[in-house]
Amino acid sequence: MKVATIPGDGTGPEVTAEAIKVLEAVSKIEGFTYETQEFDFGGERYLKTGEILPEGAVDALKACDAIFLGAVGHPDVQPGILEKGLLLELRFQMDQYINLRPVRLYPGVETPLAGKGPEDIDFVVVRENTEDMYCGIGGFLKKNTPDEVASQTALYTRKGCERCIRWAFEFTQKRNNPKGKQLTLVAKTNVLTYGHDLWWRTFQDVAREYPDVKADYNHVDACCMWMVKNPEYYDVIVTTNMFGDIITDLGGILQGGMGVAAGGNINPDAGGTSMFEPMGGSAPKYTGQNVINPIAAISAMAMLLEHSGQPAAGAKVLEAIQSVTGTKMKSQNAGRMGYSTTEVGDLVCEALK
Ligand code: IPM
Ligand code: MN
Repeated sequence: MKVATIPGDGTGPEVTAEAIKVLEAVSKIEGFTYETQEFDFGGERYLKTGEILPEGAVDALKACDAIFLGAVGHPDVQPGILEKGLLLELRFQMDQYINLRPVRLYPGVETPLAGKGPEDIDFVVVRENTEDMYCGIGGFLKKNTPDEVASQTALYTRKGCERCIRWAFEFTQKRNNPKGKQLTLVAKTNVLTYGHDLWWRTFQDVAREYPDVKADYNHVDACCMWMVKNPEYYDVIVTTNMFGDIITDLGGILQGGMGVAAGGNINPDAGGTSMFEPMGGSAPKYTGQNVINPIAAISAMAMLLEHSGQPAAGAKVLEAIQSVTGTKMKSQNAGRMGYSTTEVGDLVCEALK
């Protein structure tokens, strides 16, 4: 297996190193070999060279089986430049049309929800990752005048929503939740009567192919209340890019926050290349201090393994994470757990069976 790494900015390289440490340990146990190829993309390189993704970068990444991204974001680079030029660019160019965000509360980790535990907070958000307001269509008229007009178009295509919805049904079927297989479409059909009508009709059409999965619907505003009040209601959610961006951060805090939340940008087609990342940012002020929780990065590595041909290794890493959070945490706060970054990585390696 060939894994591209983009350690990125700030604390990205520190957490990436822990994820690779765990990859090394699990590869020995499971008996597979891998190689890594590091790419220095991110804020530092951009400030030095003015380049975000150099010529040939995408082809080099596509030649790998999967990509691990540490974090991008640099205090000296204007917000939006790296997000657009690196993260969104890679999502689009590699057509990673699924953004997968498991919302899983690990044992021992504190959630801000009173009276809820790991058995209540365990669902998955499947977010469409290539369309909607992220497509970059829009513009200004009479900019910087009192009559200024700005438009930002939300674009939805039948192909785009259908491939995402179908993947979500397949995923729900395979997840096989013992509480019942349920896929909830989260949208806003009462107001977005064109774009989300397309989603709604497509959802109904595809649902007919999966009679064993309960096809459910929530408006996005109600979903936000329900996620906080009754997270146990959800099995799998499928949603649009912009709403998915918002509700997955809500989900991230329900599972303990940036120190633990991970996600994948997946191109599930044959020959597609997927990219996995911890959700925490680059946290520049903590750079080099060995204090960031690498559980999010290690969880992203577990997802990478699961989706890149080593599902048994992915499951082992996930179990090891759960054993560490469940038995070793010195502090319930997922931010630090009472250990250093490298100590947490070592604990996960030790817990691997
Ligand atoms: C995410 C992030 C990105 C997004 C940003 C950094 C462009 O918030 O992966 O959820 O909005 O998709
Ligand atoms: Mn986001």
